[in-house]
Amino acid sequence: MFEGKTAVITGAARGIGQAIAVNLAEGGANVVICDLESEWLEETAEAVGKTGRKVVCKELNVTDHDAAQTVFQEIASECNSLDILVNNAGITRDGLLMRMSEADWDAVLAVNLKGTFNCTKAVTRTMMKQRSGVIVNIASVIGISGNAGQANYGASKAGVIAFTKSAAKELASRNIRVNAVAPGFITSKMTDALPDEVRDKLLESIPLRKFGNPVDVADAVAFLASDRAAYVTGEVLNISGGMLM
Ligand code: NAI
Repeated sequence: MFEGKTAVITGAARGIGQAIAVNLAEGGANVVICDLESEWLEETAEAVGKTGRKVVCKELNVTDHDAAQTVFQEIASECNSLDILVNNAGITRDGLLMRMSEADWDAVLAVNLKGTFNCTKAVTRTMMKQRSGVIVNIASVIGISGNAGQANYGASKAGVIAFTKSAAKELASRNIRVNAVAPGFITSKMTDALPDEVRDKLLESIPLRKFGNPVDVADAVAFLASDRAAYVTGEVLNISGGMLM
């Protein structure tokens, strides 16, 4: 599906980003994986290596505008093409609004929203010259529904959704598609550690009565990144077991 293509995934050291990198490599893509520290990428690099595809590790803090420009320039010169960008790096700093510190607000907006802007801006020159490219942003159902205790996170992900639609309109004439996925509850160390009663309560809010897996998100990303979604842009695909309809 992705033979001969290069995909860049931010925040790929673990979790959903790792699953996306492995999934795209299984589909034939060579992958460039980025995270805050390059050593953190070893596990993902090993898993990608098993698919037989090329993997390159890059240290990148997505909040750093200039570093993003530099790293994406390096990638463009090292790879034949730059076909897919997945803006996955994201953080939470939850807390009730009244008590939320300015630092926690700024940190979440900087990684989730500005990081998405920085990396998207950094690939557009290359993709515009190629006259092709696909960008998939990882939003969240919280960016659509909101959530008590997550004003910073919800605002950042709502921003990612509006950013996705704006970029899709701006870049469509250059044959660059921009879409987002909005995951619901995806299993992670965090959901594994939840007490049974909290877990059961959460499951009651999900029509499919189960949490998603990172691979569920990765499969949706692969679809949007593929030619099967050639006529899809500016769209937000919920991966939430029906939590949000
Ligand atoms: P995670 O915390 O397991 O992984 C996030 C990765 O991003 C880590 O490897 C981390 O080092 C990296 N990262 C953090 N700040 C960074 C920065 N400034 N620059 C570069 N990399 C950075 O998180 P998870 O659960 O895999 O989430 C991935 C994405 O999916 C995030 O955008 C998150 O908001 C989103 N999401 C996750 C859901 C879930 O239930 N796990 C639900 C909805 C959305």
